[in-house]
Amino acid sequence: MTAQTVSLQVTRPDDVADEHFLKALPKAELHLHLEGSLEPELMFQLAERNGIDLPYASVEEVKKAYDFTNLQSFLDIYYQCADVLRTEQDFYDLTWAYLQHCHDEGVVHVEPFFDPQTHTDRGIDIGTVINGITRALDDGQQAFGISSGLILCFLRHLSEDEAFATLNQAEPYIKHFIGVGLDSSEVGNPPEKFAEVFAEARRMGLKRVAHAGEEGPVAYIEGALDYLDVQRIDHGVRCTDSEAMMKRLQAEQMPLTVCPLSNTRLKVYEHMSQHPILQLLERGLCVTVNADDPAFFGGYLLANYTALAEHLGMTRQQAARLAGNSLVASFADDSTKEAWLQQLQKACE
Ligand code: HPA
Ligand code: ZN
Repeated sequence: MTAQTVSLQVTRPDDVADEHFLKALPKAELHLHLEGSLEPELMFQLAERNGIDLPYASVEEVKKAYDFTNLQSFLDIYYQCADVLRTEQDFYDLTWAYLQHCHDEGVVHVEPFFDPQTHTDRGIDIGTVINGITRALDDGQQAFGISSGLILCFLRHLSEDEAFATLNQAEPYIKHFIGVGLDSSEVGNPPEKFAEVFAEARRMGLKRVAHAGEEGPVAYIEGALDYLDVQRIDHGVRCTDSEAMMKRLQAEQMPLTVCPLSNTRLKVYEHMSQHPILQLLERGLCVTVNADDPAFFGGYLLANYTALAEHLGMTRQQAARLAGNSLVASFADDSTKEAWLQQLQKACE
C-alpha cells in the first residue's frame, strides 16, 4: 500500500483545519524519542525518587534553558536530562506519560525511538530500559487501544563497533522491538559509518530508519537510502536542496517523518512560515507530521498539526492526507492500515 493509492473525501476540503478536526483524525506518530518526552515536572519527580541533584532549581529554570541554537545545543541538554532515568519504573513512567498525550490527541499507533546507549553507558542494563518501555506500551494497547512498534536507535556520534555491541545486548529482547534507527549529531557522522550494523539488523529481520537531512546535506539522505537500505527517512527536509532527490523520494514514495516544531526550535527554519512540508506534500512526497522531542520543543503531535494550520494555512484536505500518510508509512500490516483509513475517511466527513 502506498500513500498515492489512498483517496479521501473531505467535507469543506479548502477550509483551514481547526483543532477539533485535527484531533479527530486517526494519526500515527513515527518520529518520537521517548527520552525527548521527559517533561521537566517528571524529571524533578524522578530526580527526587532516585536521590539525584539536578543542576536546575525549578521547572521554570529548566524551561528557560531550552533555548536552542542548533541540534547539538539541544542534544547536550537532552542527554543530561536523561540521567534521571534509572529504574524500570522510570522508563515505564516516561512511556506511560507519553501515551496519555497520544490518547488525548487521537493517536492510534506509535513507533517510538529509544536510545539504549544513553543509558547503558551510565551502567544501566538494557533489559531495565526495554522492559520498562515495553510494559507501558502493552498497557497503552490495553487501556487506550494504541498499538505500537518500538525502534532502537544507535547514537551516530559513537562508533559502529559500539552500535554492534548494543545490537548484541538487545538481541535477547528482539521480540520487543521492530526496527533500528540512527540519531544524535548528524553532521560529520554520515550513514555509511553504520552500513554494516544496519545490514546485520536487516538479516535479523528488523526494519530500518535513519535521521538524515535534518541539518546534514542531501548526500546523507542518499547515503541512508543506498547504504542503510532504510524504509523511512527521519526529517529529510533538506531534500529541498535537490530537485533530483525530491523526485526520487516522490517516485519511491519514501516516507519522511517531518517534525515542524523541532525544526523551528533547532533553527533549521527561522519561522514556521518558512517550513516546506506542505510544498513537499503538494509535490506528492509521502511526508508525515511528528513531534520528535515534545517536552523540549513546545508540543506533542497535535500541536505540530495546529502549528501548520496557524502558520501555513494547512487545509482540512492537506491535514487528512498527512494523517493518511502517517498510517500508510507505519510498519503495521495492510489490513490494520485499511481499518484505520476507513476510520480516517469517517473523520473527514
Ligand atoms: N536529531 C538527532 N538526534 C536526536 C533528535 C533529533 O532531532 N532528537 C533526539 N535525538
Ligand atoms: Zn529525531
